[in-house]
Amino acid sequence: MLQFDTLIIGSGLAGLSLALKLADQQKVAVITKKSLLEGASAWAQGGIAAVLSAEDSLAEHIQDTLIAGAGLCDPATTHYVVEHAKPAIEWLIAQGVPFTRDATTDTGYHLTREGGHSHRRIMHAADATGHAVQDTLASKVLAHPNITLLEHTIAIDLITGHKLGYHDNRCYGAYILNSLSGEVSTIAAHDTILAAGGAGKVYLYTTNPDTATGDGIAMGWRAGCRVANMEFIQFHPTCLYHPHAKSFLISEAVRGEGGLLKLPDGTRFMPAHDERAELAPRDIVARAIDFEMKKRGLDCVYLDISHQPAEFLQAHFPTIYARCLALGIDITQQPIPVVPAAHYTCGGIMTDLAARTDLDHLYAVGETAHTGLHGANRLASNSLLECMVFAEAAARDILAKPRSSFIPLPDWDESRVTDADEQIVISHNWAELRRFMWDYVGIVRTTKRLQRAQHRIRLLHEEINEYYTNFHITADLLELRNLVLSADLIVQSALARHESRGLHYSKDYPAILDQARPTILKH
Ligand code: FAD
Ligand code: SIN
Repeated sequence: MLQFDTLIIGSGLAGLSLALKLADQQKVAVITKKSLLEGASAWAQGGIAAVLSAEDSLAEHIQDTLIAGAGLCDPATTHYVVEHAKPAIEWLIAQGVPFTRDATTDTGYHLTREGGHSHRRIMHAADATGHAVQDTLASKVLAHPNITLLEHTIAIDLITGHKLGYHDNRCYGAYILNSLSGEVSTIAAHDTILAAGGAGKVYLYTTNPDTATGDGIAMGWRAGCRVANMEFIQFHPTCLYHPHAKSFLISEAVRGEGGLLKLPDGTRFMPAHDERAELAPRDIVARAIDFEMKKRGLDCVYLDISHQPAEFLQAHFPTIYARCLALGIDITQQPIPVVPAAHYTCGGIMTDLAARTDLDHLYAVGETAHTGLHGANRLASNSLLECMVFAEAAARDILAKPRSSFIPLPDWDESRVTDADEQIVISHNWAELRRFMWDYVGIVRTTKRLQRAQHRIRLLHEEINEYYTNFHITADLLELRNLVLSADLIVQSALARHESRGLHYSKDYPAILDQARPTILKH
């Protein structure tokens, strides 16, 4: 049994920033199911929202967040996050993150703009902000003597007092699988953090990396935590549409810097859908694109920024420019073919302002958590911010508590399982789940389609449980088990909402109710 003061599950921005905030005073383990930098954080493009310019105000950032969230943001959380944004950015600058500078602004940094923001307030490192941030923090994590990093190590499940037969409501650590050796170990920890990211891979088309299989949400739910607002899956309006481009995002900052959405014949369509046109919040833009594509039988629409000077595009969007060029699209000359794709899980494990969950000694930070910040639709670039602010809050809470001694934990029991005779069932079920979630639980929903999805989820659930109970576990099986549970939570929540609000649009309930209520699922 390995023992640490704190076990952090996930090496995204939530996990790494929390590790660095604890490690001067504690022994910390960071486990990550692939390699250190694999996860959504390193893929983030646009940047991090914060009020830094004297022309902007906290009140306006709060207001923009509340408007995007369509009445469902928690006001206390929203104030808390927006007010802690500046210190979060200052901490990143102190770590050495190379944000893009601009000597002509009052901050000395270039602030870009994204949909739903009333001001330029997005700090960024060109169009590869996540990579710049993660690279900087990863080198600090690797150099810290108190941080043990375990790569290719996937958390299977949390160890709770309830499962051990104790009469407490506590988390004691987790069982982990080394996906290279197949060995299962036990980690005991005073505090455990779910920082495992979102569940975008539940959909066939997504901007998310392969790691986004809802593991944190599923583990938290199985351990007894409540989850909230899982129906609010954000579809990013502009994912590159190309047969050889898997999950490549065209940042919202492209629209922020003047990019226009067009039909194949070159006409703009966003002004007809919303007075904010291309800079309307994401739910509106994604739904407008979906509407136009379905109405006209299109495979994609186009995002055109070729009217901006080539040097400006190459300087601000070097990653997008290079990736598109490699696929034969010169963004300085041509419009970019785009489609909406699943991007962000607004719901998750319910947490308070110190990132605490319903279980003692269990925290959730980042996309796995539901803090109340995003409501029914996340405002662009508020997610990396949320990771930072709640990593700091969790660190403060953890460091303020007295330590207790470790108790022995039982080993993982593999005495009754054998090797699976075939893996095809797992890959088939992965594909089936992601296809019907895309078809039945997408941007526009109906009760009938949601019920169809629920029926199929139940069948998959039974099949996977049989596998889980009878065979040696693999990373693929664990991820599929978590994806199916995440899908179930999404569909249950969507069926429970009898209105259309933010990212959840139902043809059977097109109106918005007067009173906004979160969807809270509990055991
Ligand atoms: P992640 O960064 O996804 O990290 C999760 C970690 O957990 C990974 O290391 C993963 O391997 C690990 N993990 C998962 N399950 C397990 C398990 N069972 N055991 C062990 N490890 C596990 N947001 C913004 O605010 N601004 C942006 O510009 C922006 N751009 C984006 C661009 C793209 C293409 C995408 C996909 C998202 C973007 N987002 C952006 C959203 C934002 O990047 C994510 O919400 C945020 O990075 C989530 O951070 P996280 O630490 O919670 O999760
Ligand atoms: C983007 O760059 O468009 C992504 C920003 C975000 O998801 O917050």
